[in-house]
Amino acid sequence: MKAGIFYISNHGTTAKVAKQIGEKVHHTVDLIDIKKIKNPNPELYDLVILGSSIHAGSNQKSMKSFIKRNKDVFLNKKLALFLCCMYEGEERINQFNNSYPEELRNHSAANLLAGGEFILEKMNFLEKAIVKKVAGVNETKRNIDEKAITNFIATLEKIK
Ligand SMILES: Cc1cc2nc3c(=O)[nH]c(=O)nc-3n(C[C@H](O)[C@H](O)[C@H](O)COP(=O)(O)O)c2cc1C
Repeated sequence: MKAGIFYISNHGTTAKVAKQIGEKVHHTVDLIDIKKIKNPNPELYDLVILGSSIHAGSNQKSMKSFIKRNKDVFLNKKLALFLCCMYEGEERINQFNNSYPEELRNHSAANLLAGGEFILEKMNFLEKAIVKKVAGVNETKRNIDEKAITNFIATLEKIK
């Protein structure tokens, strides 16, 4: 099975999770950074995995337009979805639901809410001010859900 992990990442967390999935899953995997590769072709893959992250309540515009352009293609493929963010519980689930359209969520064979990281060294002045004000964050904080990633990979392994 040929898998394409299409991801977008502002400070590297989603990229890191995408790489981890790509290294561990026993499918043939291409990692595609949609910030760098314009109009990548999901038709080339049997399994499409989409990964994005939340900044100020929403996932990235280029992921949204990638989804809009290719929704029908995704519906004809095996599909899996993941999201990185720092909110937890109900809010994390709401952000996931807002990031991926209902049709895709219903079609998806595996979903991952991977948690995230606040990496202060990678933030600009404005971003630091936002996370300090909104989340009270003054130092780098990591909250990646490794168990959820392991479970996600196990589910991906079962996709035939
Ligand atoms: C400026 C800024 C705004 C953020 N806003 C949110 C938010 O609204 N909800 C949330 O759950 N996480 C929020 N986060 C946390 C990110 O989702 C988290 O840092 C994630 O790991 C980023 O992944 P990336 O580096 O792959 O983009 C924010 C982070 C930054 C820097």
